[in-house]
Amino acid sequence: MLAAMSHAAASPALLRASSIPAIRAVTDAWRREGRTIGFVPTMGALHRGHGALVAAAARACDRVVASVFVNPTQFGPAEDLSRYPRDLEGDARLLAEHGCHALFTTTPEEMYPPGFATWVTVDGLTEGLCGASRPGHFRGVTTVVAKLLAIVGPTDAYFGEKDRQQLQVLRRLVLDLDLPVRVHGCPTVREPDGLALSSRNAYLAPEERLRARALSQGLRDARAAWSGGLTDPAALAALVRGRLDAAGAAVDYVEVVDLATLRPLPPGAPAGEDTLIAVAARVGATRLIDNHRLGDPFPRATAGEGP
Ligand code: PAF
Repeated sequence: MLAAMSHAAASPALLRASSIPAIRAVTDAWRREGRTIGFVPTMGALHRGHGALVAAAARACDRVVASVFVNPTQFGPAEDLSRYPRDLEGDARLLAEHGCHALFTTTPEEMYPPGFATWVTVDGLTEGLCGASRPGHFRGVTTVVAKLLAIVGPTDAYFGEKDRQQLQVLRRLVLDLDLPVRVHGCPTVREPDGLALSSRNAYLAPEERLRARALSQGLRDARAAWSGGLTDPAALAALVRGRLDAAGAAVDYVEVVDLATLRPLPPGAPAGEDTLIAVAARVGATRLIDNHRLGDPFPRATAGEGP
């Protein structure tokens, strides 16, 4: 149940705990020693974006735990659970290289044993955006994250801003349940041409990969127009839609919302610094998401942005 492996001379040996009791034994001991514990929950197929979360945790905390668990309850019946990319050995290498101390893996049977009947839901914030197009998704996310936090018992937890709605929902969950953990959001990591890193990018055929740039291009256009004085939410959304349409991407949503509530701005309200533009679109069969808070600079593409 518990094994240790070291990948690089400068990296800590990565403990591998493949059951709930095994990871509890590890984190209980760290807590007894008074150590802070950073936690990075993931579904595996890890990339540099996850590496950045682990590195942030390693900078701030004494010990870092990452979990790899493809959580079945956050996938809809027609979604990609069975073909979700899996590469546990590659994941273990990336985690060790970024300073992770322990990798927790578990199984659907251990997480959801027969008789499982308790669900955690967050109202309001889960209703729009991905909550509207993926019914039940956030109930699965909030339930598994509540369980993972209870199992690992971290002092700090790290989530990517690419999944901004998830981040806001999980902040709410931790606040409402008085969980003793600090939630940290970390900036989206992008490819040189702007595409947000995602495990699902692996599904894209080369030609789709080029078209997928439209999400970040649209957000960059909108951010530039807003900086230039365009504050009408519908006009900003139209810029993003224009890029998606030109790339032949099927728009799921393009919404201009208030960051705190994730609700569309009231009629007549101008987009401001705390306005979020959120987008979901299908390129081929692959559903991609991205977002940008207007008050933040949009990173320049350093290569291959295209027209
Ligand atoms: O963002 C993810 O990878 C997942 O939604 C999470 C937070 C690990 C829960 O399964």
